[in-house]
Amino acid sequence: MRIALLTGGGDSSAINAAIRAVVRKSISEGFEVIGVKRGWRGLIYDELEPLFLGSVSGIIQRGGTILGTSRTNPFKVENGVDNILTNLRKHGIGAIVAIGGDDTNGVAHRLADYQVKCVGIPQTIDNDLPGTDYSIGFDTAVSVACDALDKLHTTAFSHHRIMVLEVMGRDAGWIALIAGIAGGADTILIPEVPFTLEEIIDRIEKRRRMNKDFSIIVASEGAKPEGREEQFIADQKKDPFGHVRLGGIGEWLAKELEEKTGYETRVTHLGHLQRGGIPTVFDRVLATRLGAYAVEMIKQGLFDHMACLCQNQVKAVPYAEALQGIKKVDLELYELAKLFY
Ligand code: F6P
Repeated sequence: MRIALLTGGGDSSAINAAIRAVVRKSISEGFEVIGVKRGWRGLIYDELEPLFLGSVSGIIQRGGTILGTSRTNPFKVENGVDNILTNLRKHGIGAIVAIGGDDTNGVAHRLADYQVKCVGIPQTIDNDLPGTDYSIGFDTAVSVACDALDKLHTTAFSHHRIMVLEVMGRDAGWIALIAGIAGGADTILIPEVPFTLEEIIDRIEKRRRMNKDFSIIVASEGAKPEGREEQFIADQKKDPFGHVRLGGIGEWLAKELEEKTGYETRVTHLGHLQRGGIPTVFDRVLATRLGAYAVEMIKQGLFDHMACLCQNQVKAVPYAEALQGIKKVDLELYELAKLFY
């Protein structure tokens, strides 16, 4: 069996650990692995390279993806799917392992209609794929965000300022919520729960009365105030999966809060720092488990499924279920966070 391996969508830190596991497990099972360059794009334009043991040596700790990534959507490219089918036949590829978020895995799921055999591995810092408790990359991203909150705390304290940290999280606020709890944020804003300025100001004033004259706010890029239709958008241009680029809630909040509380307010955008660097131990082990299991799924003929972590067990979940909607944050955790505001 010859397996094609690709990584698509926004990257994160432990993808290489998953690539390593897929290659090592495949070779141990007697399978060959062909690496696809830059996600689905590589299968459309026939940009492939064989992967050997040496190709994946020394990469478990390296961020990014050695295969490169893109947000190419074959269903939006002329002859995109036909080219994929031709290239799969040409190279004798019997199965695909797709590592990515809902867009990359969504394409893999749709290709089942064309008799293409795919298995998926969840990878997104947003941690918003419903089939799995954790996606590769989330733990590293949330650790970066928590580290930023720890640093902002000391300077907020020194300068008696409000500090707003804007983090990624388009439709689910996992990074803001978990980093906010771990980093002791005074306000956490997430896409799932619209907020009001008044409630934030009340909290800041309550702190002022307790002689705490600084505040730390962590905001998901996708959060919005009550009554506002649209999220804050940095660029209206849509990517091939129809997403605009979010951003700007931090500036908006900082201006409003400075005006209304009198506190000097500063904004930090964590941006792509959340997606890079050395992966955490948790992410490396998760990527290793899911990567090896994806190959086991191929061995067992379990296609159109995603390798997922469910209550600390690695399982194959049908794509139809694993990609059903968005995994929103646990609102019990959100309530717990409020205890410390
Ligand atoms: O991959 C998901 C994500 O991290 C989102 O949280 C964010 O909106 C988006 O990627 C940003 O992507 P980029 O700037 O790479 O296009």
